[in-house]
Amino acid sequence: MKKRFYIETYGCQMNEYDSELLSGILINAGYSFSADPEEADLILLNTCSVRDHAEQKIHSRLGELKQIKDRHPQLKIGLLGCMAQNVRDEILTNKPYVDLILGPDAYRNILEHLQSTEKHAIDTKLSKYEVYEDLFPARKSGINAWISISRGCDKFCSYCIVPYTRGRERSRKVSGILTEARKAVEQGFVEITLLGQNVNSYRDDEKSFPDLLRALAEKVSGIRRIRYISPHPQDVDAALMQVHAEYKPLIANHIHLPLQSGSNSVLAAMNRSYTREHYLKRVEMIRQYVPDMGISTDIIVGFPGEGDRDFRDTLDIMRQVRYDSAFTFKYSPRPHTKAIKLQDDVSDTQKTERLLELIALQKEHTLQRFRAMIGKELDILVESGSKRRPEEMMGRTSCGKVVVFPKANYLPGDLIRRRITNARGVTLISRENVEE
Ligand code: 5AD
Ligand code: SF4
Repeated sequence: MKKRFYIETYGCQMNEYDSELLSGILINAGYSFSADPEEADLILLNTCSVRDHAEQKIHSRLGELKQIKDRHPQLKIGLLGCMAQNVRDEILTNKPYVDLILGPDAYRNILEHLQSTEKHAIDTKLSKYEVYEDLFPARKSGINAWISISRGCDKFCSYCIVPYTRGRERSRKVSGILTEARKAVEQGFVEITLLGQNVNSYRDDEKSFPDLLRALAEKVSGIRRIRYISPHPQDVDAALMQVHAEYKPLIANHIHLPLQSGSNSVLAAMNRSYTREHYLKRVEMIRQYVPDMGISTDIIVGFPGEGDRDFRDTLDIMRQVRYDSAFTFKYSPRPHTKAIKLQDDVSDTQKTERLLELIALQKEHTLQRFRAMIGKELDILVESGSKRRPEEMMGRTSCGKVVVFPKANYLPGDLIRRRITNARGVTLISRENVEE
């Protein structure tokens, strides 16, 4: 009988992509996918170390999986990804039931490691070159295909563990990315999302990120929408915005532009390599080229040394930019990073207060942004029928907002044009079809 594997993915979209890569390797080797961990021969957790909270969640999940292993002693448990890199020794000491520990650059060798007769198979070597060029991910069904275009990060923001868990930045070849995109389109995917820790520092010899976007837009037919995450504000330039303007609406009008803080002294301590003035200039430029660009962000509160005025500076930038949405986090000291040496001097109570204030302000802006869409005619990429309301379907606008509309003869992947007639919280409603 075929061996079955079960995989759980935590953290960022890069991990989603990596899990699809791993699934591809296992399926090619004769494994089949299991949706139930109780029925699997191999359980993989693809993990995240970006905040302590993420790691704690995975530690407790491992405790639950141990109980399954107690009932099925043949079961193998694998810990993969950033946490494998970061807490290998602790796992070996305290969770000896974990059989396999593989870092983000060791997936190519998973089959050999599964055959190992050692008590533990461990491979956490980082590579300067591995980009899994010749492997094809087994993608989940849906309309969107993730495509990783680079791996690792060289920016070394002082709070961030990623450069230590994922190693040095390296880009794939344009040709390999085009091949992967064509294959995804052949398989029925109509939207592609390019992934990189700093997606826009992509480089293949003379070719930069805007060149890659142009090549995808011109040379891969059948794609209906191209997205990418996450660009670094420092590398967002006029060339990128030019491509957005030129290939609209194929290149989605959404940019995720992590701010992290609005205070110049905190940005400097974070090693973010831009000031609030630079950041605001970039936003101005973005809106000059693409006036209806949806802008989202990441913000950290409570970085060491963040005083009340620094925090007010962050709120001030939020008021100036009026983001469509924001992911907000309390600073979490991480091992290996420069910031771990700074005193974590903002109390947890204060971090929570700041986070709540920031979330409340963002909610106002988000609702304003959603209300401002009412009356507009927009392109919507149909995703699926609504699970809760069988009489409705859902899709997404170019700037990434969810729209629901009455069920009609649409198929997932259809690009339709409709007028937004209402907004229900963070969902847009469309009751009007628009004839082309
Ligand atoms: N503490 C809190 N948030 C963090 N992030 C990265 N490292 C940390 C940390 N140590 C956030 C940043 C990043 C997002 C993916 O996670 O905002 O953009
Ligand atoms: Fe971390 Fe900064 Fe690299 Fe993003 S750019 S992965 S926040 S070090």
